[in-house]
Amino acid sequence: MKIGIHDLEVATSHYVLDLDTLAEHQGIDPNKYRLGLGQDAFSMPAPDEDIVTMAAEAAQKLLARHDVGQVRQVLFATESSVDQSKAAGVYLHELLGLPANVRSIELKQACYSGTAALQMAVNAVARNPEEQILVITSDVARYALDTGGEPTQGAGAVAMLISADPHLVEIEPGSGFHTSDVNDFWRPNDSTTPFVDGQLSLDAYLNATTSAWDDLAARRALHLEDIDKFLHHQPFTKMARKQLVALGEHTGTQLSEDLIEESMSYNRALGNTYTASLYFALTAQLHSNDQLAGKRLGFFSYGSGAVAEFFTGVVQEHYRDHIYPDHVAQQLQDRVALSYDEYRGLHQAYAATSQTFSTQPTTNAPFRLSGVTEHQRRYEAQ
Ligand code: HMG
Repeated sequence: MKIGIHDLEVATSHYVLDLDTLAEHQGIDPNKYRLGLGQDAFSMPAPDEDIVTMAAEAAQKLLARHDVGQVRQVLFATESSVDQSKAAGVYLHELLGLPANVRSIELKQACYSGTAALQMAVNAVARNPEEQILVITSDVARYALDTGGEPTQGAGAVAMLISADPHLVEIEPGSGFHTSDVNDFWRPNDSTTPFVDGQLSLDAYLNATTSAWDDLAARRALHLEDIDKFLHHQPFTKMARKQLVALGEHTGTQLSEDLIEESMSYNRALGNTYTASLYFALTAQLHSNDQLAGKRLGFFSYGSGAVAEFFTGVVQEHYRDHIYPDHVAQQLQDRVALSYDEYRGLHQAYAATSQTFSTQPTTNAPFRLSGVTEHQRRYEAQ
C-alpha cells in the first residue's frame, strides 16, 4: 500500500520586506543577500497574524477539497509556539470546526519537527489506512534586529494531508537519522528571539545532513544516482547549494545544481519558514516541473540542536492534476511591502506577552488574532 502526501496548501503573512531595503539601510551590498544568501525578501506577520492564523488559512483551503470526516489527527509542527502548554493544533481545531473526535497536538524540534509529524502520520495511516492525518508546519522566524540572522527571517505555513493512495508523493519506508547535542541555534523559554552561533550552525547543518545520508545509504543500499531531485531545509537558499557541494565532496560525486534549482523559488521570496521550509521546497519543486511522475525525491530535513533526517518519496503519476501554483503566486503577490521604518516599528512592537491587548484588522486572511484577554489568546474568522 502506498502512503504519502495526498494534497498540500500554503499560506504566508500580510507583509514583506525586500532585502534590498534592508541592505540599503545597513550600508551593505545588496548582492550579499541576493547572491551570498540566495534570498530576495522575507515575509513578516501583521500584529493580528501568527502561526495559528497562517496554519488555519492553509488548512482551510486544503480541507475544502476533501472529506473532513476522514481526518483523525492534527499534528502541528512549529518552533515558534504561542503557548508553553496548550497545543497550537487545538486553536486550529476550533478555527477549522473539526469534530471533537479528532486528536490535535503540537510537536517541537526546531525546523525538523515537521518531518517527525509527517513520518508519524505515515505510520498512523499504515495502521488505519482509511484514516487521513492533517500535518501542519507553521513558523515565524524572528531574529533580533541588527544581528547576522536578521536577513534570514520569514513566515509561512504548509498544510499537508497524509493518506493511503496519495495524489502527490508516496513516502518510501526507511530513513537516515542523525542526532547530536550542539548549541548552534536555540531559544530559551524567556527569549522572544533565538541565540545563534552562525558559523557553527552552518557546520552542524552540513555534518548532520551528510551523516543522515550515510545512515540512509547504508540501510537501503541507496546511491546518489537513485535520487532525481534533492529537497532541503532552506534557512536561506544558498544553504542547499552548500549542502550539495558538501555531499558531493563527501561521496566523491559530481552533483549538478539542476538537482536543486527548481526547489528554491518560494523560499527565496519567503525567507526562513523553519518547519515549513522543506515543504515549501517540495511545493516549488512540484510546481515548476511537469515531468516528475515516477521520479524519486530526496528530502533533507534539519533542525538545530540538532536532529536531521534523510528520506525519499516518489512523485505520483497524476500529480499535475492536484497542484495549485496560482494559489502560491496569489499569496506572494498579495503581500504588502514594508518601508524600513515600518519594518523596524513592527519588529519592536512585537510582544510575546499574555497581557491584555487587542489588534486592529490588518489582513484579508480568513482568520485573525483579535487579541489577548485574561491571558487567553482570542482568534476569530473574518
Ligand atoms: P554573515 O556573517 O552575515 O554573512 O552570516 P557572511 O559574511 O558569512 O556572508 C554570507 C555569504 O555572502 C558568504 O557566502 C559571503 O561570501 C557572501 P559563502 O562564502 O558562505 O558562500 N557575500 C557576498 N556575495 C556576493 N556579493 C557580496 C557579498 N558579501 C558577502 N557583496 C549567516 C551568515 C548565515 C551565518 C547568518 O545569516 C545567520 O546567522 N543566520 C541564522 C542562522 C542560519 O540560518 N543558519 C543556517 C544553518 S542552521 C539551520 O538551518 C537551522 C535554522 O533554520 C533553525 C532551526 O533549525 O530551528 C536556522
